[in-house]
Amino acid sequence: MEKAILNYDDLLEMLDDFLREPKEFWEHFYEDRAKEIPFFKVTGPDENLVDYFNDGLAPRKVLELGCGPGRNAIYMAKKGCKVDALDIAENAIAWAKERAIEEGVNINFHCTSLFDYEFEPHSYDFIYECGLFHHLAPHRRLTYMEIIKRALKPDGHFALVCFNTDGALATSDWDIYKEKSLKRGIGYTEERLRKIFEADFTIKEFRKMKKILQPNDVLGEDFLWTSLLQIKK
Ligand SMILES: C[S@@+](CC[C@H](N)C(=O)[O-])C[C@H]1O[C@@H](n2cnc3c(N)ncnc32)[C@H](O)[C@@H]1O
Repeated sequence: MEKAILNYDDLLEMLDDFLREPKEFWEHFYEDRAKEIPFFKVTGPDENLVDYFNDGLAPRKVLELGCGPGRNAIYMAKKGCKVDALDIAENAIAWAKERAIEEGVNINFHCTSLFDYEFEPHSYDFIYECGLFHHLAPHRRLTYMEIIKRALKPDGHFALVCFNTDGALATSDWDIYKEKSLKRGIGYTEERLRKIFEADFTIKEFRKMKKILQPNDVLGEDFLWTSLLQIKK
């Protein structure tokens, strides 16, 4: 039968067809672990995440979205958190599991798209995300926000690391569909991010990530924004 848009999910699926298929893209991305990618080489956590914990953030149950090779999930597990970490790519989860074993930490890894992840509503103190959002198709953003809002406890925190306009072009949502490409991700302006998040979240900290020269125990690149948000009551 010819496909038709009969509901909201059909509309999202139709728009998915304009852009790359994420699972295939990310499986391929992780095939060569020797690539010159900052988060391939650095095994330590993001500098801003370490700052949040040093400044008193003490979540018990956390979720990491798009955990990749597991840097941040491993850090949070070492800090005593109960960690669920998900990623769409089996190659990423396999790598993260190997690293977690090497580091002697216990993490519940899930190989799934965040859109298919099943969880107990309002059960997480903290949700962390580095590098997924700027690759997310704009038409999936609203569902992404709904998932975070449903997963967080009433006073829970969410932290996001994503490209600023030095990290990628600030392509508009409209142009992504006109050009049928997410390119190498979306470079967000501060204004665009504030518009997306400020209705539902209090922005507790918003800054550029600090550039950290390697080798170092933490990762920091100044082409990224970091932001710590708390869900509004
Ligand atoms: C730029 S990488 C960052 C990896 C990791 N957070 C880090 O910083 O080391 C983005 C990650 O998001 C994952 N990802 C992309 N779309 C996803 C989705 N819909 N659901 C779950 N994971 C996804 C990719 O597989 C990839 O591992």
